[in-house]
Order: sequence, then C-alpha cells, then structure tokens
Amino acid sequence: MEKLTGLKKVKTAVFISGTGSNLKNLIKFSKIKKSPISIDLIISSVNKAKGLKYAHQFSIKNKIFNFQNIKIAEKNILTLVKKEKIKFICLAGFMRVLSKNFIKEFNGKIVNIHPSLLPKYKGLNTHKRVIKNKDKFSGCTVHYVTTKLDSGKIIMQKRIKVTTTDNLTSLTKKILAQEHKLYPAAILKIFN
Ligand code: GAR
Repeated sequence: MEKLTGLKKVKTAVFISGTGSNLKNLIKFSKIKKSPISIDLIISSVNKAKGLKYAHQFSIKNKIFNFQNIKIAEKNILTLVKKEKIKFICLAGFMRVLSKNFIKEFNGKIVNIHPSLLPKYKGLNTHKRVIKNKDKFSGCTVHYVTTKLDSGKIIMQKRIKVTTTDNLTSLTKKILAQEHKLYPAAILKIFN
C-alpha cells in the first residue's frame, strides 16, 4: 500500500450488512490523528442494517444497495465510490461476495475482517464450528480480499483461548472485542 504523504487521510468506504460494531469502531479510529484513513462513505447491502445508525450519527454519506441483482448493484457501487474518490475499502460484517470484476477495480485495496483464525473456518457460523469441534483456540483475521472467499493474504491475526465454559454468546463477544482492536491495528500496519 502507498505510504501516506502529508496529513491527508485516505478516503475510505466501509461496507456493512448488519450491526455495525466494527463500523462504529472504525469511525472512531478514523477520527484520531494517527489514523491513516477517513471514512467518507458507508455502503449497506441490507435495507435496515442496524449499523446505518452510525452513518447518521456521524453524518457520513451512506447508501443501501439491493444485491438481488449483483451486477447492477456492483456497477452502481463502482460509480459511487469513483465519484466520491474512494481509494480504500473496508468490509465490516459485509455478507456478500464481491465479484472478480469489482475486486479487480480495487485490487489490493479491499480488506476484510473475519471472525476466525483463517485459513480455518472460512464462510459462515465460525464460532459454532469452533465450539462444536472443541477447538482450544480461535480468533480473528484481517486479510486482503481476493476473488476466493476469505482467502486473501493475511495482514494481521489475533488468537484467543476458547475455554470449556465458552458458548456461542461468550465466544462471539470475546472475539468481537478483539476484532475492534485488530482492525485499526491492521490498517495502521497497511499504511505505515
Ligand atoms: C463480525 O464478527 C465480522 O468479523 C463478521 O461479522 C461480524 C459483524 O459484526 N464478518 C464475517 O463473518 C464476514 N465473513 P459487526 O456488524 O458488529 O461489525
């Protein structure tokens, strides 16, 4: 990734589909002086995504795209991100797979956070699978987005212990708390 020059922050879009706790965390991070990014656009694939409230709270431009027709959605998103001069994209609980064409346009400039120790547990229901398999460790990963699901180069990873008393709720909570530390740290690593 290009190094930062001067004080200009890199115009960033965050893509969400749900609660948006990572979005909120990234917005807060973006406002501190040492953050290399500013968040200028929020895109949601879900009409009533709870996370959209942070777009309103922090007065950030936002738009919902209906992914019923992926081609049209992506074409319209590309037009918008180009218009807004977005240079970097963070996926944060974005539950859609982006097409080759879209990723090509932003090659090496899209990152994602995933709630597992990739390459273990790509896809959905990661915590459920960790508990079912009685894994001793789990965690979260920030990685570059490529055309293969949850498979791009790993930027940073955080490992946590899974205890015998952990259940879906406790593990989700524990890992989400780590995600909120890891995503900003990974972004600092990318740009510094
Ligand atoms: C997070 O745990 C994130 O890692 C996960 O969805 C959750 C979104 O929470 N993402 C994926 O599973 C993507 N494959 P949030 O909406 O509160 O940030």
